[in-house]
Parts: sequence; C-alpha cells; structure tokens
Amino acid sequence: MFGFGKSDTNALTMDKPHPDSLLDTGAQGVIGKPIDRIDGPLKVSGRATYAAEYDFPDLAYGFLVRATVGAGKVTEVDADSVRGLPGVIDVITDYKTFIRNPGQGGDTNKPPQGVADVAYFGEPIAIVVADSYEAARDAAQQLRVSYEAKEGRYSFAAYREEHDKPPEGVMPPYTGTGDPDAAFEGAAVKIDATYTTPSQNSAAMEPHASTAVWEGDELHLYGAYQMLSTDRIQLAKAMGMKPDKVRIIARYVGGGFGSKLGIAPESVAAAVAAKAIGRPVKCVMARQQVFDATVRRSNTEQRVRLGADADGKLVMLGHNSLVSNLPEESFFEPCGQATQFLYAAPNITITHDIVRLDWLLAASMRAPGEAVGMIALECAMDELAEAVGLDPIELRKRNEPGEHPIDHIPFSSRQLVPCMERGAALFGWSKRKPAAGDRRGEWLYGMGMAASARSNMLQKSSAKVSIDGQGRATVETDMTDIGTGTYTILAQITSEILGLPIDDVTVKLGDTAFPPAAGSGGSFGAGSSGTSVYLACEALRGQIADKMGVAADGLTLKDGRAIGDNRSVPLAELVGDGIAATGEVAPGKQEKETLQSSYGAHFCEVAVNAVTGEVRIKRMLGVFAGGRILNAKTARSQILGGVTFGIGTALSEELMHDPRNGKIVNRDLGEYHVPVNADVPQIDVEFLSERDIHANPMHAKGLGELGISGAGAAVANAIYNATGVRARDFPLTLDKLLDGLPAV
Ligand code: MOS
Repeated sequence: MFGFGKSDTNALTMDKPHPDSLLDTGAQGVIGKPIDRIDGPLKVSGRATYAAEYDFPDLAYGFLVRATVGAGKVTEVDADSVRGLPGVIDVITDYKTFIRNPGQGGDTNKPPQGVADVAYFGEPIAIVVADSYEAARDAAQQLRVSYEAKEGRYSFAAYREEHDKPPEGVMPPYTGTGDPDAAFEGAAVKIDATYTTPSQNSAAMEPHASTAVWEGDELHLYGAYQMLSTDRIQLAKAMGMKPDKVRIIARYVGGGFGSKLGIAPESVAAAVAAKAIGRPVKCVMARQQVFDATVRRSNTEQRVRLGADADGKLVMLGHNSLVSNLPEESFFEPCGQATQFLYAAPNITITHDIVRLDWLLAASMRAPGEAVGMIALECAMDELAEAVGLDPIELRKRNEPGEHPIDHIPFSSRQLVPCMERGAALFGWSKRKPAAGDRRGEWLYGMGMAASARSNMLQKSSAKVSIDGQGRATVETDMTDIGTGTYTILAQITSEILGLPIDDVTVKLGDTAFPPAAGSGGSFGAGSSGTSVYLACEALRGQIADKMGVAADGLTLKDGRAIGDNRSVPLAELVGDGIAATGEVAPGKQEKETLQSSYGAHFCEVAVNAVTGEVRIKRMLGVFAGGRILNAKTARSQILGGVTFGIGTALSEELMHDPRNGKIVNRDLGEYHVPVNADVPQIDVEFLSERDIHANPMHAKGLGELGISGAGAAVANAIYNATGVRARDFPLTLDKLLDGLPAV
C-alpha cells in the first residue's frame, strides 16, 4: 500500500494529522511495556564507556585554566612558569580558536570569540597538557596569569532597572492579547505578586568531558553531548573546519539537562591541544569547573498579575519576567512559555526582559521556561483560589480554555482537567484542610497542587534500520541516550513494527557517522527520533510485503516471521543478504495549526516544623497525559527525575554569585543542594491513556521535562496550606518561613 518497493528512504513532513499508527496494529506486543533498559546491564557492570573513559596510546591530559577576575583582559599568560614542571607538555593559549561556550550562546553564527576579554569569573582562558591528569591540574593551578581587571556588573538587584528586550527565542519575548492593564484595573479580584528564583546548575552526574583524537585532518571527539549533529557543526565552526571532517562519538551520556545541548569549552580545548601537541588529549572538567564554566539557568524575577471576576473567571493574566544573561547574549529563560495557553483569559500580557550581568552564561536547563515560570504562575493561581474562596482545582476548571487564548488554534490533545480530577481522587485531595488548619504536635501539615504543561516539539530526525541475513535488525542514528531510555524505546518501536523479539534488535546511537538525529533536548527526543525509526521500519515492512507478494496491510510480522496469504515465512529467509531503509521526519504545518503540549497535575503533602521551619515532603503524586507511552518504566523514571528537580527548585537549589566579582561560591554538590534520597518521598506517577494524531505517527508527546513543570509550585502551595505563610523568594529555605509561622 505504501509502494516503497526498492525505495530506501521514507520521508514524512508533519503537515497533516496521522490517524493511523503501526504501533496500534503491530503484533509483537512490546510497545508501552515496562521493559528494562537494554543498556542497563552494560551500565551497572561498568562496560558502558563514557567520554572520560576512552583510552589511547600516547594519551595526554588537559586541564582548563580559568579566569580569576570577573571582567577585564588577560594581559599575560606566563607559560614558562610551568613548562619545566614534571610531566607538563605544553600550555595552550590560542585565543583565536579557543572560544567561549560556543554552542550555548544564542547566535552560533557569530565568529569564534577569543577569550583575551574575560566575560565572567571562571571562564576558561587556557589549557595545560601533561602526561597525567594530576600533573596538568597542578600546573594549571600554578600558572601565572596577569589581568587588567575592569568594573563589572555582578548584582541583579543593582541593575534590575536596566534591561533590554531580547530577540525571539523558542517564543516571542513579548506576547499577549487585549488590553491587560485596563482589564486588571477593573477586575473584581486581583492578585499582584512577584516571585523570584535564583540561578541554578543542571548538576548532571557526569562532568563534561572530551577526548580529542586527530586522524590526519579529521577530528574524532569522544564527548558528552546531547545533540551530536548540531554539536558537530559547532565544533567544526570553532575549529575552522568543514563539519564532515568532524566526528563526535557519545554512546553513553550521564545526564545533560540542557548543559550538554551545545558544545562546552572542554571539547574545543581538547581539540586545539591535541592538534598542537600531536597526541590525543583528554579534558575532563572538575566538578567545580562544571559549575563555573558550563551554563546556568538564569535567575528570574516574575511579576504575575491575575484579575478575575467574583466567580474566579480570569479577565486578565499578566506574566512579566526579568531574567539575566551576559551582554549581547540572546537566550532568555522563557518563563511565560506555558502561560501563553494554560488558561483562558481575554486579556494577556507576557514579557521577558534581560538584565545584563557579568555572570556565567545563562542557557537552557531542563524545561527552560516552564520549570521556573510555572512556579510563579501556579503559585499565583493558588493565591487567586484563596482570594476568591474556591478550591484550586475548581478555579483551574473555570479557566479551562477551549482553544489557544492568544493564537486561537485548537489544542492537539489536552487532558489537564482529567489529570487534575484523577490526581485528586488518587491523592485524597478532599481531605485537604483550610490553611494552617492541620497541626499534629510540632508539625503543620498541608496539601498543595499545581498544573503541569510542557510544549511538545518535533525536530528533524533521521535513522537507518536494516535487517540482516539472520533476520536481526540494527538501528543506526546519531541520536543520544542521556539516561532517558532512548536505546530501549527505539528497540521497542523496531521490535513492534518489524515483529522481532526485542533481543533481535540492536540499537546503535551516539555517533555522527550515523544518520543525523534530533538529539536529546526540549522533550523532543523520543517523538522525533522514534518517528524516524518508525518510518524506516514502515519502509522495511513495505519491502517485506513485496518479497512476500502480499499487500502491506495484509502482512503480519511477529516473532521473526512474516505472515500473510496463508503463509508464514521466517524473515531471515525473505530478506536474503539483508534489506535496509532510512526514515526521515520533519516538522510541518501541524505545529502551527495545533497547539501541542503534554499536561499533568502535581499533588504534594508536606509537614512543616512549627519550631524550626524545616519542610519535610511527605508524599507526591502526579497524573500525566503525554500521548502514547512508549515504555511505562522509562516514562515513569523521566517523571520521577523531573519531580525531584522540582523539589530542588522549591526547597534547596540556589547558585550564589559573589557580589564582588560574580564568582559562583557554592560550586560543588556539597554546597549546591540537589535533593538527596532523604529529601525525596514516595512519588506516585500515573499516565492517562492518550493518542495525539497531530504530534507524529506514534501519537506520542514529550515527557522528559513534564515532571519538573509545576512540581515546585505544588510543594510551595502545600507549604502555604500547611503554614499560612506565602513565601515567594525561592528556594523556600526555613529562614523564609520562620517569621510567619504560628506561635507554638
Ligand atoms: Mo533540555 S534543557 O532541552 O536538555
């Protein structure tokens, strides 16, 4: 029926809905199942090789040298001061190619920047290479560097009045509808509250690391990156090379959360150093360097105004954000991303302005926008519910939009209300008491909830799938698995459509020698790369049907056999020496014609100590709808990780900048407090059944960043319900609660 015959490329642009899915008609029965990660045994036995673990004959070790002023110029690097130290090979300070965080800035078309000008405290300015890591690190610390320091801008509070409007990013910086100021003025009930969130670090477990090997004029980089096909272009540009001379290999990545979307300084440093000394060079960032010199999530100051009528119907919604970044950087934390479509309001204003600071570059960190933006919006909705005298879920139901309130396009699928209702029933929401109404000895108990939404995106992605003469399939794409489960879901999709036991599918990822993929970012990885694999398998099904002499829709593939026309033939027999096909997907009109997002509802119960102000999260529960769930176990794990990030945002995570020079002072996992096991309670996750025919042929939407979106607000709203204290300056550490707590 598809008429592929011998053709080996199946391309799809999502211009139209795709109501049929081969994942519904597959006979293998593996899609959606909670299959263990196929890469799990390799990881737990230490056989999965990460970027820092590659070894080569004659390997040298590089260590980054970082600026010790917050702004100014490097005037001299006294390389001779360390060249004579034992094991030291060289000090490389090639300012022309040694560039800043090239992949993470807004404009990758800018020419490579030198770092003679220091942009922020801790910026890499040189690399020392030695025969051992220890020798390189020692020399890097002894290297004498002279600076001409200049005045810098290191305080958000001091410069918050000076800001500029950024260019369009993932959303327009300014958007809205109607006459918001007048509508707010005339509203019966008004909330006008400002929330602040601090800089944050992705804190991926695996530090950024690169091993650079030159093979003639070709650069092979073993790195830890999320989006290899664009990382390759960035690295080539930084090196002044053609992209096809650069190969990046990242088979396993120990978390990225945005910090590895674009190339970081260590890859360029390793490549430059390897070329200079004619040996492979490995450069592994120390944990402190990851904090100092990769990227941060911007701090935010978000003013939310909600104007409602006496029944709680919004007449005005305002979300005006100040964020920060380096001068000339275009990236802004898109705090108002979900505010654009979450609630019906006839008058809306959403703005983002950047305060220019000489702090570490701000860029994407897990759910850029929603992760901190939904804290402000969803806490404000909680404040409005209180002001109107409505249950927070009832308030949200009254403001459920029938279409995108600004763009007036339909939702592709939206189950926010069912998520809230199901969550309320599972959580026991009806037992919630009025604020400060549940005291048990020293402990004040309370419940809170918040909505969750994360935009769904499709990105260009391609993959090759082949079936060999033994009837085994191999998937090849430069997609990455950053701990999300990509290896496993791509095997499941292949297994389902080609009717192969999952053990007969090999998935090869993380190598730019394979067809270019979307990479892991923006919750688009599964939908985009999964669709490319789907399309390749669809083409192979067509080829198999031809070989069987049956129509594709009369063909059943199961357990390695092709069944049709009253015959059952082993695939191995049909495919001869083997067959192959490539699938290519690209976004199309559907992303403009429908608003695509995943949704959910978070519920949280806390106990706050009335004497000390310490917060203990008792339990959390979330119900989510993200289209078809490809693997129930890895999907749940994605949500668990996201909710844990949300707990950190609510209670403990905060990068602190020294007001004298911008230096990040809490730059390790001892001082930057991510939630640990003792902070994280039982988290229950349920997914609602959903199919989104506008998203892709798999009918799946993104999940990776859904769990964090709104999670922190549920915690903050529970703290309010427990204590009657509405703290708006995140993280909500005990000092911010103590003063308002009821007397013991
Ligand atoms: Mo994500 S912040 O797009 O890795």
